[in-house]
Amino acid sequence: MTNPGDRGQKGGPRPRPSPSGGSTGNNLLKLLAVILLVPALMPFFVPPVADMYNHPVFHSLDRSISAGRNVKRLRRQGDVVEQPGANGSRKIKPVVCGEYLGDKSIWDPNADMNRTEMQRLTITDPPFIISLHAMHFDKMRWVHIMKKGEYYETGVTAAFHTILGKYDSSVRPAPLVIDIGMNIGWFSLYSRAHGHDVAAFEPNKVMFLRVCESLQYNNWENDNTVSLWNYGLGAQAGSFNLTTGNNPGGSSFHEDRLAPKFRKKMTVEVATLDSVAIQEGWLDRQVSLLKVDVEGFENFVFEGGKRLIYNGNVENIFMENSIHNITVVGEMIDMLYDAGYRLNEIRTVNGDPYHEDWWPTFNPMLEERAKHENNDEVSSQLNFLSKSTCNLWWQHNKIRNDK
Ligand SMILES: *[C@@H]1O[C@H](CO)[C@@H](O)[C@H](O)[C@H]1NC(C)=O
Ligand SMILES: *[C@@H]1O[C@H](CO)[C@@H](O)[C@H](O)[C@H]1NC(C)=O
Ligand SMILES: *[C@@H]1O[C@H](CO)[C@@H](O)[C@H](O)[C@H]1NC(C)=O
Ligand SMILES: *[C@@H]1O[C@H](CO)[C@@H](O)[C@H](O)[C@H]1NC(C)=O
Repeated sequence: MTNPGDRGQKGGPRPRPSPSGGSTGNNLLKLLAVILLVPALMPFFVPPVADMYNHPVFHSLDRSISAGRNVKRLRRQGDVVEQPGANGSRKIKPVVCGEYLGDKSIWDPNADMNRTEMQRLTITDPPFIISLHAMHFDKMRWVHIMKKGEYYETGVTAAFHTILGKYDSSVRPAPLVIDIGMNIGWFSLYSRAHGHDVAAFEPNKVMFLRVCESLQYNNWENDNTVSLWNYGLGAQAGSFNLTTGNNPGGSSFHEDRLAPKFRKKMTVEVATLDSVAIQEGWLDRQVSLLKVDVEGFENFVFEGGKRLIYNGNVENIFMENSIHNITVVGEMIDMLYDAGYRLNEIRTVNGDPYHEDWWPTFNPMLEERAKHENNDEVSSQLNFLSKSTCNLWWQHNKIRNDK
């Protein structure tokens, strides 16, 4: 079989280049990717990579997952998460927009801007208003959203429309979308515009200034439909320091490339997805969509969210797969398959259909892997996934016709 990564793509932008070079280069790139909890181009400059990787929130996916059919054991392990305060109070606290918007200690790239000129009505179906960072801080989103009223990931927006439009959003509670890697909230706001409830995660405080403004502009700030969580999600809870800069124009993620006077230290809190899910009662809710865009951190998010993933009420998972280690990719998708997910579509980074001829071959391949516990044969599909950054749309088999 040929590797589709070697073939020309049928339209749509090319995938991001995969890391090349020896294993040292691969490791370095992978570790750098791990730290990009927020989408690329944000001004994160990180401490030495080895220190980061030794932090307990970054440990590799549990080996038992790749053996498959360890559901009971995984569920038991899934119990080992932080519990809400004994008096029922929230231990993991959501963002209170009034506090964030009034907090002068949060550096704001829009401090000197005219707020009216920093918002845009989108051209999406349905439309919504979004507040943007100043162009000097986030040119990527400015040039697309402010100039065109749409995101550069147009295909992902279209996929959201397809997925969310299938639900009756008049039911109460509304279906829940969990957005991991919120950035300024394009997908959270778009999901809310479809009438779904939203829970959004993002470790960088500055993003909440924008999304809180957006909630105000759309009159969604007081209706309890959107909860915001200023946490990164990892395999374990913890906190660690990132060094950030003001200017995202710097292309390096090495602290030492950033002049000391521009360095800012930011303490980032990490929670596990399960701990928030248990606290908030999401195990008993219909979750229409779990969106994961964490730049190589995907396996850690799932590791900390096993209980929710195995629970079966998350109906769709839309994830950007940017892990370039075939072992880790294999373990991650084995876990999803084991938890009842089947691959529905592969899309490019921008969300356009990608290698449609491969979609039907994926689930049989995963079934084969699940049957042969010690099957270490490297399939060309897995090889492809570990080389291309792409979006994967998974559906739980309970909502599929081909189960
Ligand atoms: C891939 O990940 C596995 C498991 O974490 C690790 O043992 C291996 O060294 C990694 N390979 C590369 C090339 O980084
Ligand atoms: C509930 O417990 C938390 C700590 O778990 C504490 O901070 C908080 O004050 C308590 N609230 C009440 C009303 O007792
Ligand atoms: C802000 O911008 C709007 C639209 O361009 C303009 O009408 C308004 O006068 C500006 N406000 C200030 C205080 O400059
Ligand atoms: C982060 O920085 C603060 C202040 O410099 C320090 O007290 C804390 O120990 C650091 N945390 C970690 C996890 O390194």
